[in-house]
Amino acid sequence: MARDGTIDLIIRGGKIVSPSSTIEGDVAISGETIAAVTAPGMLATIANEIDAMGRHILPGAIDSHVHFREPGYEYKENWETGTAAAACGGTTTVFEMPNTNPPTGTLEALRLKQERAAAQAHVDYGIYGLLDEDNIDILEDLIAAGVSGFKCFMGNTFGNLPAPSDGAMLEGFEILARHGYRCTVHAENPSIMARRQERMERAGRTDPLAHLAARPEVCAVEAVGRAVAFAEWTGARLHIAHKSSKDALYILKDAKARGVDVTVETCPHYLLMTTEDMKIKGGLLRVNPPIREPGHGEALWAALHDGTIDMIATDHAPHQRDEKSAENIWQCDCGFPGVETQMPVMLTQVNEGRLTINQYVQWSAHAPAHAWGCYPNKGVIQAGSDADIVIADLSRGRVIDNAHLHSKSKITAWHGFKTTASVDWTVVRGRVVVREGELVGEQGWGKPVKQQMPPPKPNNVDKTMQAIIEPPRF
Ligand code: DOR
Ligand code: ZN
Repeated sequence: MARDGTIDLIIRGGKIVSPSSTIEGDVAISGETIAAVTAPGMLATIANEIDAMGRHILPGAIDSHVHFREPGYEYKENWETGTAAAACGGTTTVFEMPNTNPPTGTLEALRLKQERAAAQAHVDYGIYGLLDEDNIDILEDLIAAGVSGFKCFMGNTFGNLPAPSDGAMLEGFEILARHGYRCTVHAENPSIMARRQERMERAGRTDPLAHLAARPEVCAVEAVGRAVAFAEWTGARLHIAHKSSKDALYILKDAKARGVDVTVETCPHYLLMTTEDMKIKGGLLRVNPPIREPGHGEALWAALHDGTIDMIATDHAPHQRDEKSAENIWQCDCGFPGVETQMPVMLTQVNEGRLTINQYVQWSAHAPAHAWGCYPNKGVIQAGSDADIVIADLSRGRVIDNAHLHSKSKITAWHGFKTTASVDWTVVRGRVVVREGELVGEQGWGKPVKQQMPPPKPNNVDKTMQAIIEPPRF
């Protein structure tokens, strides 16, 4: 609240959306916070008002999975351009991945990233710490220094960070379990993938679909199963990044039914693209895990609807045009930008009846806010919450165009996709950052997200590394 309790901004006349309702109303904002949500016309007029009549008022999206590349690969993206893209796409909080250079697995690397983010961010952010083979002893230092959660690359991807051994991963999970922190995993089996890629390269396969052949679904089945086993045994909270296939869903459904604290994301490209697109777009669609054959997308939609998948994230993975355009698939970098296009693309699916606007808010804002301990500060439009708000128009779209992207990466697989919805305004903690589609925010407004995870629930504490390395006293 502003200290004197005055109302600084009113959003008037839109349809305010929560997971359970869509109501016509007005939103009053005081300082950085929502002061009141009222029936239409109850608030006295002030100078600073936004007319949202006919449009939808949504909680800003919370994206659990972006790569902003800084420090180390600033030619691909930096915190300014990445968060500008987020803001223009209606995302008001991002969680940023540690495969930068240096990777965010040491205190020095974390501090460097924190400085860069603080100076440049347009939206709020959390920073992932890396969990790897060599930094188990400093995971608690990274927690104390302010990471939002951890990322464990069980399988290789951009940056080629080696997967930790199972021993290190389990010990890391034991430590995170004591603190109640959530660990996101890139769940693909590296040994299967490396062997297949090597054999295919030797055999001369360089076509786009060789990438898919190197990373069959069993890679994810095995790694998801292993991650769930470690999480259940230790009590560590787990988050499965970019679920791409139908195959491991049964493991996650069962784990949830047993009470394992595992959350799951998928991305718009796995919901809406298939190998048929890859045949046309080639290396542009090279991404980890791969885009799969027709049929997987339908299963992922069904898993969102039945609660096995909790949320939408983007895996925003910017690269330069030449890095995405090689003839030889193995020479194309993996990933493409997505943080700016997620909301228009998914609201287009709302218009097509594949989800309701309420489900969209559940999957884009409410669920990630819960998973990362930000609820009810974020993920909801109610009195007392951060004023992180998007005004979206579900009656006016545009054709997505590389040239309009705010990311440094001007090459996305969504180029040419026709949306039927647009993000018009984005408000981050009470400040207008995007006005009628134009970025108007100032660098450095974004702040580290405040989190309060539920109390830790470690399991098997008598069998952890910490418990067994003391010699027994008989
Ligand atoms: O395709 C991908 N690119 N998948 C990932 O998991 C990482 C990302 C990147 O950092 O480029
Ligand atoms: Zn990623």
